[in-house]
Amino acid sequence: MDLFEHQAKELFVKHEVPTSPGRVTFDADEAKAIAEEIGKPVMVKAQVKVGGRGKLGGVKYAADPEEAHTHAQNILGLDIKGHVVKKLLVAEASDIAEEYYISFMVDRANRRYLAMCSVEGGVEIEQVAEETPDRLAMVAVDPVVGVDLAFARSIAEQGHLPAEVLDKAAVTIQKLYEVFVGEDASLVEVNPLVRTPEGEILALDGKISLDENADFRQPGHAEFADLDATDPLEVKAGELDLNYVKLDGEVGVIGNGAGLVMSTLDVVAYAGENHGGVKPANFLDIGGGASAEVMANGLDVILGDPQVKSVFVNVFGGITACDAVANGIVGALGKLGDAANKPLVVRLDGNNVEEGRRILAEANHPLVTVVGTMDEAADKAAALAAGK
Ligand SMILES: Nc1ncnc2c1ncn2[C@@H]1O[C@H](COP(=O)(O)OP(=O)(O)OP(=O)(O)O)[C@@H](O)[C@H]1O
Ligand SMILES: [Mg+2]
Repeated sequence: MDLFEHQAKELFVKHEVPTSPGRVTFDADEAKAIAEEIGKPVMVKAQVKVGGRGKLGGVKYAADPEEAHTHAQNILGLDIKGHVVKKLLVAEASDIAEEYYISFMVDRANRRYLAMCSVEGGVEIEQVAEETPDRLAMVAVDPVVGVDLAFARSIAEQGHLPAEVLDKAAVTIQKLYEVFVGEDASLVEVNPLVRTPEGEILALDGKISLDENADFRQPGHAEFADLDATDPLEVKAGELDLNYVKLDGEVGVIGNGAGLVMSTLDVVAYAGENHGGVKPANFLDIGGGASAEVMANGLDVILGDPQVKSVFVNVFGGITACDAVANGIVGALGKLGDAANKPLVVRLDGNNVEEGRRILAEANHPLVTVVGTMDEAADKAAALAAGK
């Protein structure tokens, strides 16, 4: 999960990384009020999860509250690379002597962390890497050893930060490493990390990506979820503990096992080409125990997608045998009642398939068509979605 700048800065504050004080708001009048509270010149900063905000007019200096109000009005609603600005950070403007770059990230290929540091901050780091690669230090970090103060200082030194700031920068870099590890982040990036004319080091920007696999031990991270930006069906599926991803098609897909569901998506997309280009509407893996409840929850989410015209249930019976799945489907349709209102194509195979098919045949639900093979079932589901 990528964080907004203001959320990244909350984590900076928690780990004592110095940053500019400020507050977040959704409206221009409040932006002005925040500027008044701060009582100094401020920066009005678009909160969108995309880089290059400054260049596109999303970061503005305001000498006084009135100017903050004007900038806030202009920035709210601005489209930055397809992200419409709804939220602003109003932060104290700092005097800047120099801008640096520092980041920590997971380096999967080398099974290490990677620290990058450069005296050339405030510009896109890709540009530094291309134009002045010798000014950008790339330092491998052994996750077992970590980053102590001396190592942090060496990272700053390799990034060509001036000698007089090394001690202070080292303290901040070491704390940023604590953010990175302590918060289970896959990326912590500060661009710019600045030196003020008084010699202070401040993180004026912050980008953090959190590793969602660690959510179980990071309960505090739940509050960072951007429910606004998440598809409501995905939010609902998340609450029901379903592995669901919304896609942009018409054939709802339910399967057991991620591999089977992935190949079902392919087969549906392929079959769809013969039916006016219909496509899969979602990924949904209901896992091993395809109980009536899980099946009902899955169907409920999929049928809640107005784009869905038909549903393809593709199950390979393993430990959970086909009869249990068939009972799950019948039970789910019973549970959903009138909410089940779109045709279902079911393909069952594997453990105890005869009994599974018998159960479905006996239930004889008007919406259900049982089809023998995956290809035929995909074709049938695509045809139904195309209105045939
Ligand atoms: N609090 C601040 N005080 C003074 N100057 C600031 C402050 N925040 C940002 N700036 C200036 O604005 C520039 C751009 O800000 P920032 O780095 O936050 O956004 P960005 O880099 O354009 O966006 P992104 O990081 O999303 O690419 C900074 O390089 C810095 O010069
Ligand atoms: Mg930046």
